[in-house]
Amino acid sequence: MLNSNYKEIIKQSHQRCEKLGIQQDQIYSKKIVSDNALQRILNENRDMIMTAIPYIEQIFKFTKGSDFFVLLTDSEGCILNALGDENILSEAFSLKMIPGAYMNEENIGTNAMSCVIKTNSPIQLSGPDHFINTYKRWTCSAAPVKDSDGNLIGVVDLTGYTENVHPHTLGIVVSVAKAIEEMLKVIKTNKNTKNKKSINVNSHQYKYRFEDIVGQDENFLDAIEFAKKISNSDSTILLMGESGTGKELFAQSIYNLSPRCNEPFIVLNCGAIPRQLMESELFGYVEGAFTGAKKGGNPGKFELANGGTIHLDEIGEMPPDMQVKLLRVLEEGYVTRLGSHKIIPVDVRIIASTNKDLGKEVEKSKFRKDLYYRLNVLPLFIPPLRERKGDIKLLLDYFIDEISRRTSKPKINITKENLLLLENHNWPGNVRELRNFAELLINTGKFPNMYFNRMEKPMAKEHKEESLDMESVEKEHLIRVIRRCNGNISQSAELLGIRRNTLYNKIKKYNINI
Ligand SMILES: Nc1ncnc2c1ncn2[C@@H]1O[C@H](COP(=O)(O)OP(=O)(O)OP(=O)(O)O)[C@@H](O)[C@H]1O
Ligand SMILES: [Mg+2]
Repeated sequence: MLNSNYKEIIKQSHQRCEKLGIQQDQIYSKKIVSDNALQRILNENRDMIMTAIPYIEQIFKFTKGSDFFVLLTDSEGCILNALGDENILSEAFSLKMIPGAYMNEENIGTNAMSCVIKTNSPIQLSGPDHFINTYKRWTCSAAPVKDSDGNLIGVVDLTGYTENVHPHTLGIVVSVAKAIEEMLKVIKTNKNTKNKKSINVNSHQYKYRFEDIVGQDENFLDAIEFAKKISNSDSTILLMGESGTGKELFAQSIYNLSPRCNEPFIVLNCGAIPRQLMESELFGYVEGAFTGAKKGGNPGKFELANGGTIHLDEIGEMPPDMQVKLLRVLEEGYVTRLGSHKIIPVDVRIIASTNKDLGKEVEKSKFRKDLYYRLNVLPLFIPPLRERKGDIKLLLDYFIDEISRRTSKPKINITKENLLLLENHNWPGNVRELRNFAELLINTGKFPNMYFNRMEKPMAKEHKEESLDMESVEKEHLIRVIRRCNGNISQSAELLGIRRNTLYNKIKKYNINI
């Protein structure tokens, strides 16, 4: 299935780029459409995007912390959605790899997405396989998403830094693209059979219960106790905790213990869905509301959740105009579909979650104060793993047990010295990172001391207050690139797309130690 003749595919693509007159020092895609045009393209691809989001979110979570980002494009290479680690994603955005930019060969030269569009097959490209110099820093793995007739309808791509290239990355992308295709088929079949019950195709996924939550730390047990108590209320819950602390686990457990457990549980990740599709996804739309709107319109998540629970994940990412609209729904208890004035009453229990400090976001005027107070009725805080060190061994044993059973590989014994290392680590990715660590442990068959040497540095950075002025951002970026090139100035300058002298001047200016 994977392209064995990929060298030939790349060679031919480079030849076409030369013929097309694409310059190797080109940085941005030649085609980036306007907001209006993007809105139209997003509307046209709405079903594919919404079906793909949970899967690309999975890849994002799986690769979190390892400097990767996921792109979803349409069949012509127009970026529809981008998710990824903050640093690398902002680097991609600085190269205008943003929604609305075209990644096809004609506009940006050879890359994994352009090759998928040409060949209809998955491919992985790294470094010099790319045509333009700026992209030579990347390793990209992409796979086609096809409709049931085999026509290309989109491309899923996972991009990271060249030194992180691994054949498994392509495997991940291929299986995700296949999963999206399968889900699109299921949805199409359901639509044809007009089976209303099948709307909730994902309901089996919401399986977590309080019994599945592992922990013995006193504060953590208090959080579980409180969560159990508030399960049977209808009041809004604001779940707060760093990434990977178990917010999803808690949200599902609360739902499953609540009197609404046989009613719908609808999840919307406000950080994963394109801003332009959010209103219609939350509140629905009527026929004719916009070009490409479905015949008969479409209900929004609030309508679908009626009688049940809605989990608004990453609420801190909700754009300001949507915050106003959400506030209105919370205050008035009804929604109006896009393009209509008809009032539709909804009875929905809300669980909002965030890994941001919403109070601080309010202070910075990034989140509405009135909405914050509306949501913060029952605040539930899940402590980070580094503040419940006693749980590390318990959770690790639990994951080792589970993974070794699943993979039929032997368990690994954790010595006292190992445990000390584990307890002294800060676990910026919290329980998710610990779980990934357990996978590494079982799959490599030995305790990876290197993991801790490698991880401590960037982690220390994570907790300091970030400076976001241009000069600090540039300095940080230069340091990262130079470090990545092991201090080699020529290589760093090439990667940065600047001359060596310019780089030396900047090193001097920012007082960077090489
Ligand atoms: N206490 C726990 N016991 C068992 N598994 C846990 C626990 N906490 C988290 N996990 C596991 O860790 C992973 C991450 O949890 P979850 O997705 O709930 O985190 P999250 O807080 O929602 O993160 P994010 O903010 O990144 O979405 C999951 O695989 C979950 O099963
Ligand atoms: Mg989550």
